[in-house]
Amino acid sequence: MAQLWGGRFENSTDEKAYRFNASIGFDRRLFKEDIEGSLAHAAMLCKTGILSEEEGEAIREGLEGILRDLENGSLDISEEYEDIHSFVEATLTGRVGDAGKKLHTGRSRNDQVALDMKLFVRNALDSFDRDLKELQEVLLFLMEEHLETVMPGFTHLQKAQPVTLSHHLGAYFEMLIRDRSRLLSTRERLSECPLGSGALAGTTYPLDREFVAQKLSFPDGPTRNSMDSVSDRDFVIEFIFDLSLVMLHLSRFSEEIIIWNSDEYRFVELSDLYSTGSSIMPQKKNPDIAELVRGKTGRVYGDLMAMLTTMKAIPLAYDKDMQEDKESLFDAFDTARDCVTLFAAMLNTARFNKERMRQSAGRGFTNATDAADYLVKKGVPFRDAHSVTGRAVLRCIELGIGLEELPLEEYRLLSPVFDEDIYKAIALETCVSGRSTPGAPSEGSMRKNIEFYKSYLEKNNEQT
Ligand code: ARG
Repeated sequence: MAQLWGGRFENSTDEKAYRFNASIGFDRRLFKEDIEGSLAHAAMLCKTGILSEEEGEAIREGLEGILRDLENGSLDISEEYEDIHSFVEATLTGRVGDAGKKLHTGRSRNDQVALDMKLFVRNALDSFDRDLKELQEVLLFLMEEHLETVMPGFTHLQKAQPVTLSHHLGAYFEMLIRDRSRLLSTRERLSECPLGSGALAGTTYPLDREFVAQKLSFPDGPTRNSMDSVSDRDFVIEFIFDLSLVMLHLSRFSEEIIIWNSDEYRFVELSDLYSTGSSIMPQKKNPDIAELVRGKTGRVYGDLMAMLTTMKAIPLAYDKDMQEDKESLFDAFDTARDCVTLFAAMLNTARFNKERMRQSAGRGFTNATDAADYLVKKGVPFRDAHSVTGRAVLRCIELGIGLEELPLEEYRLLSPVFDEDIYKAIALETCVSGRSTPGAPSEGSMRKNIEFYKSYLEKNNEQT
């Protein structure tokens, strides 16, 4: 047991209690952030004259050496320490002697861990945003390829109107645009540096908090209220919420992939690379990746709920409950990151069955609205046109045919307005190409969107 606070104690902590209290098992993951923060703090202590040049130099070299050794694997993070902060400080002191003991001057683990967490979320957010962008690139490629791939659009999972695969995939591209802008907005609130807030009430040392904030690239400088600074985990919750909404979108997409991959649909065939088999049924090829993405959505929501609940009754300022923030954050981030990258790879290697999609769009009266619109364009009020077309559909069901196969005489029995041109008006291609308003599936409308998406992705190269 190695801890930073033995002085006031007459007995050592119960072994089990010590383990229960320790966070080194998971906060070890923050070593880079912790050392980065310590380097900035030490530089500031030096600049303000709180530490001497020599002390500052010894600390800097010591910390850089620890970081290097941790990264190249020559130094292990020993679990005998309470947390990553204790480990770094003790290792530093072991290496550079008394100067190491001065590193914690004007600092508390409370502002230290608040900083570490902010730095971690900032890095995680940037790398997650890049993963989302790669998924968007896969979608954009498929959208261009399937501008003319007609498929049924659904409402209530019932065939509704024909769309294209390009249009359908575009819906997910849009969700990802919102997801990424949400991340960016979360990032904007990561702009203030909590270091220098001390345990809760600042310190009596003449710290230069502006300097530290600048060194650690916090554009809005130091935080304004030290009590809030050490007890704020809004940014963790916000980030997990952003991840949760990404998971929600991926889960909806997964659900569709699972349905489309079924024998009943056969709209898509997943690559062997991203499918799995059954131990008993030799014929099976299962969409496990998509199912796991759908399943892991619940897990990320769980992380969000855990954090919301942990924070809901924390009296100001720092309380140890907050140590629970790390595992939820790491789990949500790791899970969502794996889901996004695997989902993108699965999509990238999937084969869409254009023929099946087109056939499917041709059944189930997806052109019924267009038949009604045909009458409207010839002067029939929409409500009457709707009813006449409904009767045409009923007649087709009796005859076991589609609207495009109903003889003209049958149409004429329902309304004299029908003419030969009805067949062209309800051909699938007409149904799609006629929907040329902004946002609709026609090739022209989709091409405009694709232009927009391309310049969006180019602009977003510089986003982070
Ligand atoms: N391991 C702690 C955490 O993650 C670090 C802060 C500890 N502060 C304290 N006063 N015990 O929250």
